[in-house]
This record gives sequence, C-alpha cells and structure tokens, in this order.
Amino acid sequence: MAPISIRLDRVSKRFDHTVKGEVYAVRDVDLSVAEGELLTLLGPSGCGKSTTLRMIAGFEEPDGGTISIDGRDVTHVLPNKRGIGFVFQNYALFPHLSIFENVAYGLRVQGKAEGEIVRAVAEVLELVGLAKYERQQPHQLSGGEQQRVALARAVVFQPKVLLFDEPLSNLDAKLRVEMREQIRSLQKRIGITTVYVTHDQEEAMAISDRIAVMERGQIVQDGTARDLYYTPATEFVARFIGRTNLLAGRVVAGGDVEFEGVRVPLGAKLAAGSAVKLVVRPEMIDMAPGRAGEAGVGKILQRTFLGEKTDYEILLGGTRLQACRSDAFRTGTFDVGDEVKVSVDPANIHLLA
Ligand SMILES: Nc1ncnc2c1ncn2[C@@H]1O[C@H](COP(=O)(O)OP(=O)(O)O)[C@@H](O)[C@H]1O
Ligand SMILES: [Mg+2]
Repeated sequence: MAPISIRLDRVSKRFDHTVKGEVYAVRDVDLSVAEGELLTLLGPSGCGKSTTLRMIAGFEEPDGGTISIDGRDVTHVLPNKRGIGFVFQNYALFPHLSIFENVAYGLRVQGKAEGEIVRAVAEVLELVGLAKYERQQPHQLSGGEQQRVALARAVVFQPKVLLFDEPLSNLDAKLRVEMREQIRSLQKRIGITTVYVTHDQEEAMAISDRIAVMERGQIVQDGTARDLYYTPATEFVARFIGRTNLLAGRVVAGGDVEFEGVRVPLGAKLAAGSAVKLVVRPEMIDMAPGRAGEAGVGKILQRTFLGEKTDYEILLGGTRLQACRSDAFRTGTFDVGDEVKVSVDPANIHLLA
C-alpha cells in the first residue's frame, strides 16, 4: 500500500452559532488519503465538508484531534507552511492582474528569481491548456478558463496536496463535465494527493478514487463509487448516491425476506419477523407482461421516455417502485396502465437492517 499522505484523527470543530448556540460543524472525523489518491468529501449543504477541508488547509484550527500530512503533524502549522494548493469555488483571481501575474503572484511573494518564475508559470499554463494566455486579463476569459487559471495558480508551487472546494459550482452543466475530466486527468498526470469537496453525487462518482459521505459533521461511509452504490451502509447513503427504491420488508423463515407478498431468498442473518429495508436500484428491476392479482404483478402508473432509457413508476401492492429500462429501443415498451410482473435478481439486492 502507498504511504498515507493525509491523515485526520478524531478531528472536531465547533462554532458558536447566534441562534443554535454551540454547534459541531465536524465531529470526530477519521480520514486517510493515500499518496496520489483523489478523495471526495460528499454530502448535503451544511454537513461540514468545507470546514473539514479548511482544517486540512490550515484556515481553521480544530478544537480536537490531529491532522498530519506526509507523516508530519500539521494541526497547528500555518497554511503557507503546509505545502498545499487550494482551489476555491469563486476562482478568487486578481481582476487587475494579467493571467501571468495571477499565476506568478505567490512565487513573487516567496521571492523567487524572475527566470524561475517565468519558467514555472509557462509550464503550468501549458499544463492546464492556457499556454498563450499570459497577457490576457481575467475578464477576457470564460468561466472555465478562469477556473483553469485558478488551478494553475494552485499547482505552480508544486504542492504535495491539492484541495478543491466545490470548484465547478459556478459553471454551466456542460462545462462542469468538461472541467471535471480535466481536473481528473491533470491530477492523475501529476499524481498529486487530492481532497475534493462537492455536494453533487454524479460529479463525485465521476472524479473520485474514493468518496467519503458526510452527514451532520460525520463521515458515515467511505468507499469507491461502486461500493457506495451497491452496498450503502445507511438509508442516507442509499438515497444520496443515485436513485433508489428503499423497500420495507420482513424476514421470514430460512432467511427469506417478504415484500408485498413476494418471497425473496436473501439468506438474511436476522431473526424471523425482523424489519429490513431492501435497496433496489431502478435499473435492477426486470419487467415482463403480467396478470393482475398474481404475486409480484403491479400496474404502471407513469412512463417517462428519456431516449437512452425509459423511467417507469409501478404500483405494486401499496408500494410505488421506480424502475428504468434501457432495452426498449423503438418497440417493446410498456404503457401506462399495463400490468407487469416485476422481478429482481436476489444477488443484486442489498439489505439494510
Ligand atoms: N465561521 C463559522 N461560524 C459559525 N458557523 C459556521 C462557520 N463555518 C461553518 N459553520 C457551520 O458549520 C456547519 C458546517 O458548515 P460547512 O463546513 O461550511 O458545510 P458544507 O461545506 O458541507 O456546506 C454549518 O452548520 C455552518 O453553518
Ligand atoms: Mg461548503
């Protein structure tokens, strides 16, 4: 295993809130990021992502716990002594300085020689695809280009660690997808350990080696996008990553689970009678023509044609199921009002106690 590059041990941060009083923004967070890894902190607004990132950067000091980078305890070390590059949501470029000077700024502050600055700036502008932009002013650049300047400015120091706080929020949908691919490929090319913050699950899935899901100041699960999608640890994670059906079932004899009159062999290791939730993703539901009244047969309430797939809402007993199929093509789709027999391969079902 690669040596661990960033490590948080039981890190906490409280704030004094004018209305709520003392609140934990971050509580007992343990986290390791391996060398060269891109880890994303993902969660809804207010869950503590930025506070965690700002403590890694040194902009906030934890109330408890320790932070180390490359094995060195940096909990109380100043931000500019940590060897990190930070990319903010709002670019934070100097509007009156050229692109060259924006990227050069930090190197000038450090008192680097002019020749070295010229070489370093040219190299990073090349790296982010802005080789000819030295003399431009920020207002002459598109949002995506400005964000690339911010990226160039963060990496020009050759930091050991890169931190991103919702860097794509101000860009339109198409540009967000383009930029996240650029960030990803740059990160891999220079092999830099990265912590990335977003509330957008699709962005997190696309860009990350590993995702840590945060809820109310704590990390509730971390793993690859596949881990989180197929084996979420909690209902919160199941709902936050992708679309899902969370079906209320009951364990019956032999570890089978009963749901809406259908018995599913799941080998549940729980006492008969236990209530469980079945995590079933829409694309896992198979549909076949069915007859009303038979077990596992429901009625299609809604159909939404989306080109590469069709979404269905199916009423089975008292439960509304979200299903989607991408195998209909021009013909062979079901209609609203059709009775359909739904089935799911038990191997795909994930159980939550
Ligand atoms: N400087 C601050 N003063 C008071 N409360 C803060 C401060 N910074 C963050 N908080 C609170 O801490 C919680 C987590 O905030 P934050 O880390 O910014 O969340 P996120 O980035 O996930 O949206 C929120 O409840 C927020 O209101
Ligand atoms: Mg934030």
